[in-house]
Formats: sequence, structure tokens, C-alpha cells
Amino acid sequence: MLTTKKLGGLFLCLVLLALFRHSASDGKVHNYLQDRQIGLWGKPRNVALSVDQVMNHLNFDVEYNGTSDELVSQNMGLYKEVYGKKIDEPKTAKLTYNQLHSVEYELANATLLTLVRNKELEDIVFTIRQIEETWNHQFHYPYTFMNDEEFTEEFKQTVKRHTSGECYFAVIPSAMWAKPAHIDATKQKQGVAKLQDNKVQYAGMESYHNMCRFNSGLFYHLEELKKFKWYWRFEPATNYFCHVDYDIFKFMEDNNKTYGFTISLYDDPLTVETLWPVTLDYIRANPHSVNPNGAFKWLTDVNQNPDITKQANGYSTCHFWSNFEVANMDFYRDEPYSKWFDALDKNGGFYYERWGDAPVHSIGVGLFEDKSKVHWFRDIGYHHSPYSNCPNSERCSRCKKGDFANSELDNQNCLSNWIKYEMTFKDLQQY
Ligand SMILES: *[C@@H]1O[C@H](CO)[C@@H](O)[C@H](O)[C@H]1NC(C)=O
Ligand SMILES: *[C@@H]1O[C@H](CO)[C@@H](O)[C@H](O)[C@H]1NC(C)=O
Ligand SMILES: *[C@@H]1O[C@H](CO)[C@@H](O)[C@H](O)[C@H]1NC(C)=O
Repeated sequence: MLTTKKLGGLFLCLVLLALFRHSASDGKVHNYLQDRQIGLWGKPRNVALSVDQVMNHLNFDVEYNGTSDELVSQNMGLYKEVYGKKIDEPKTAKLTYNQLHSVEYELANATLLTLVRNKELEDIVFTIRQIEETWNHQFHYPYTFMNDEEFTEEFKQTVKRHTSGECYFAVIPSAMWAKPAHIDATKQKQGVAKLQDNKVQYAGMESYHNMCRFNSGLFYHLEELKKFKWYWRFEPATNYFCHVDYDIFKFMEDNNKTYGFTISLYDDPLTVETLWPVTLDYIRANPHSVNPNGAFKWLTDVNQNPDITKQANGYSTCHFWSNFEVANMDFYRDEPYSKWFDALDKNGGFYYERWGDAPVHSIGVGLFEDKSKVHWFRDIGYHHSPYSNCPNSERCSRCKKGDFANSELDNQNCLSNWIKYEMTFKDLQQY
């Protein structure tokens, strides 16, 4: 039955739709996105899907007649076009400032977070200084440093000198770090050998596998992190180029976001060959856990890098680059993410292959969260070698606007798929 309330909502949507169309000036980008406005109000939300419906969503197959090289170049064209637009702060969002630099400013329930070794002291200070200069000097959010060994006194004293917020130091208990007992040594050896034969980086380094597993499904259970809801992950030797004056954590909270990213990439399919099939087994048994408004197309696109998607058995390998991320740890702590992670962990692919935390977070968010809760932080200029997010904004310096990487890496860029398939025109107009 159509109630007055529903009719009112529908009317509001139509008005908004008309307004957005009216303000459309982004040419091609607008054409890509305008049809999908219908989805904003035409689709029922929060209705559990059946197995068949889930599998249907994941069988995404757009008819595309060109070569993948042509598509890479089209997608790079879209990327350049989007980055050509001059941006400032998000326009249609609630923003919170501490412009008076008030000491009474009430912080969100949040920490800056990094996994770092003592020997990376200089590189972590390099990054901290930029985070402070571009953002945290206004808020003084605390920092949490994680390590599988004790931090040295020198490390602790030095980072304290460069941070404006409280510092916490967490030593990861070996139960969260070490290889779990159920991993089959023979199978692990064979898996590693296969990766090494194919020159997969860090295949033979067990601590790297430990780290991937820890970052995928365990860090948010650390005693030192239980008291926080939000984290902003940062890494040694990364760059932050743009001044941001509003509170990033409160942005997430006030605008109903779960996960924020800057860069989206492809992965080496050999590291995740069975991650998708194992995940499909899980969701066949738990179809209700899949969010009806998930990022299905971005996860399953086969056109831009067909060989990769085939080798990863249906997963495009598109992921949010997790060395920068701002997210709500309660999303990971709750079902369905935690239950799915347990299934992955039981499978052992963190050791038999080299499942990374970036694809694991991304598939988790893409399948189990509403994609409208994922935010692309266009305004956070960021660089982790060799990739950048550099917006056309007067708030940024030291980076080349619209720069992604050397052009031979263009086919590693998955952001255009995110823009085309998962963002609405309204999302794109937010900046
Ligand atoms: C691809 O080619 C087929 C057959 O030539 C044609 O019918 C279809 O419209 C083309 N699709 C696109 C997206 O160009
Ligand atoms: C912060 O978030 C954590 C995780 O949700 C929660 O356990 C804790 O009580 C929160 N703290 C405050 C002060 O709200
Ligand atoms: C946040 O999103 C959820 C759906 O994912 C919705 O139920 C809720 O009403 C939203 N809250 C606000 C404040 O927009």
C-alpha cells in the first residue's frame, strides 16, 4: 500500500533526481551514471537475497566488444576526466571542525593505527609528520602502534616527540600472529613452492603470511584496540599531500559510512586463486549475509583484465589499497564479516596461497556492506609507491594532479570500475 509517507519520499526522490540531472555538467561521467539513479529508490533495501539471486548478481557480464587494452585506455580517460574536476571539501556532507583548536574538542571513538617495526622508525616519522601537518594538529587523535616484538625505548620516545595525540604501543600476542596449528605443513610447502616458481613476492616469508592474516581478521581483537571503534591505517614511508580541516572520523560517523579508501587496484591473481571459490561456498551456505546493495560488479568485472579474473576464478581482484583505510572495526567484529573470516582462516589460504588483507577487507565490504557506506576520499592526497591519489584541489601540494602511476601500470587501476559500476551520480557530485 502506498502510504502518504512513501509518496512523500518518492516525491522527494524525484525532486532530488531532477536537481541532480539539472546540475549535471560532468559530460561522459554523467552518462555512465545517470541510468543507475533509478537504483536509488527503485530497489528494495535490506531484503535478504536467495542463493540464486546472489549468484545472479555475481555473474556480472557486460557485453563488451573491444579489447582489454582499449578498455584500459577508456577507463584511464574516465579517470583523468574525473580527476580533472576541481574539488574542495565534500559538499553534501556533514562536516565537523575544530577551528578554534579548542582543547575541549570531543574526539570520535578513534585511533590512527599502524603495524610497524623498530627499524622503520625513520619512515614512520616521515609519515606521521605529514599526517600531523595536514590534519591531526587540529584534533590530536591518539595513535596506536602495533608490532610482533617489543618497541624499543628509542622508538617510543621518538614517535612521541612527533605526535600531537596520545601514543599506545601494542605487542601482538603470538596467538594472533603465529601460524595456526591446523595449517598442513606439506600443503603449505607445495603452495609456497608454486608461488615462488611464479615469482610471487614474499611467498616464502612466513611473517608476511602472518601479517596478512592478522590484518585481515585479527587486529581489531587486540586488547589495545577493543576500546576503539574507528581506525585510520597508515604506513611507513607514505605521503599525505592535502590539508584536510574537517574531522575525518566524525565524517564517517555522521555520514553513515563504514569504510573509506583512496586507491583501488588489481591484485596478483596467484595470491588469491581460491579466495573467491572459498567465499562462494561460504555465501551459498549463508546467502542472507550478502548485502543486496553490495559492490558486485566491481568484484566480478571480467572485461578490463580478463586473464586476471579467470585466474582468480571469477574475482576481478579489484580491491581498496589497504595501506590507507579509515573504517569501523565493529563491522569486522560483527557477523557476517567475522564468521566469513573464520571460514577463510579454517581454509588456510593465508598460508597455502598468500591472501592479502586488502582483497579480504574489500570482498568483505563489497559483499556484506551496502556500497553507499563506502567512501572514496578524493580529497585525501596520498601516495604509496608506486601509486597516487592526487586531486585537483588548492588544498594539495607536492603531487601531480590526476597522477596515478607510470602509464605501463594503467591496467592496474580499478578505480574507474568503482566509479562506473558502484558510485551513483550523487556520490560523484559530493565533491
Ligand atoms: C557487440 O557486438 C554485437 C554483435 O556485433 C552487437 O550486437 C552489440 O550491440 C555490441 N555491443 C556493444 C556494447 O557494442
Ligand atoms: C568505543 O568503541 C568500542 C567498540 O565499539 C566500544 O566498545 C567502546 O565502549 C566505545 N567507547 C566509547 C567511549 O564510546
Ligand atoms: C545508515 O544506513 C542504514 C542502511 O545501511 C540505514 O538503515 C540507516 O537508516 C542509515 N542511517 C542514517 C542516519 O542515514
